[in-house]
Amino acid sequence: GRAAALIPAAGSGTRLGRGPKAFVEVAGRSLLARSVAALAPLVDEVLVALPEGQDLPPGVPARAITGGATRQESVRRLLRATSAEVVLVHDAARPFLPSRVVHALLEAIPETGAATAALPVADTLVRGEAGRWGGLVPREGLWAVQTPQGFRRELLLRAHEAAHAGGFGATDDAGLVAWLGGEVVLVPGDARLFKVTTPGDLALAHAVASLWDA
Ligand code: C5P
Repeated sequence: GRAAALIPAAGSGTRLGRGPKAFVEVAGRSLLARSVAALAPLVDEVLVALPEGQDLPPGVPARAITGGATRQESVRRLLRATSAEVVLVHDAARPFLPSRVVHALLEAIPETGAATAALPVADTLVRGEAGRWGGLVPREGLWAVQTPQGFRRELLLRAHEAAHAGGFGATDDAGLVAWLGGEVVLVPGDARLFKVTTPGDLALAHAVASLWDA
């Protein structure tokens, strides 16, 4: 296929405390099933990295591989398992993905080969020092980075292999391309793309699902 969605879903969900996070359900549907359903109609194939020994639940239109010990390693394995020209990397832990964001990314990728969903920071930012206010960080020009992130596969694979060889780690894929010297386009994300990490996030996800599923 020409475009593939790559979904790292091999995390253990330690902070959520409900078992492997991708399989946690919100209003009767798993985070993974929701993420796959949002992407499948928009790409040629969906590839998912799962924890060792786990299978895709029935009815999820994707191909599964075994993930790695880190998110970065899971994505590297996903990249090696496809020959698509363009890849969209999306966390299973972000189950509410508006199609508008995917279309905007696909449009932006040709500019530099790399693009990510991101939102301007709205909160005041402060550096904490031993539990005390350690100094303001001006939020001017700061963006909170989300997924999906879109790339020419060959560029992202090069960044991953270089990072792997050099022992460099990043919490996302656009960070690896930037580390390699690549330019990453910022595309407007969406508040509903928040990552389900803590039990509080799961409560928020239930509230969003009641609107999303309506
Ligand atoms: O832990 P965190 O929420 O930042 O993980 C982001 C995404 O990366 C999740 O969808 C998680 O399942 C995935 N992941 C992975 N392989 C790992 C760790 C995390 O695919 N070893």
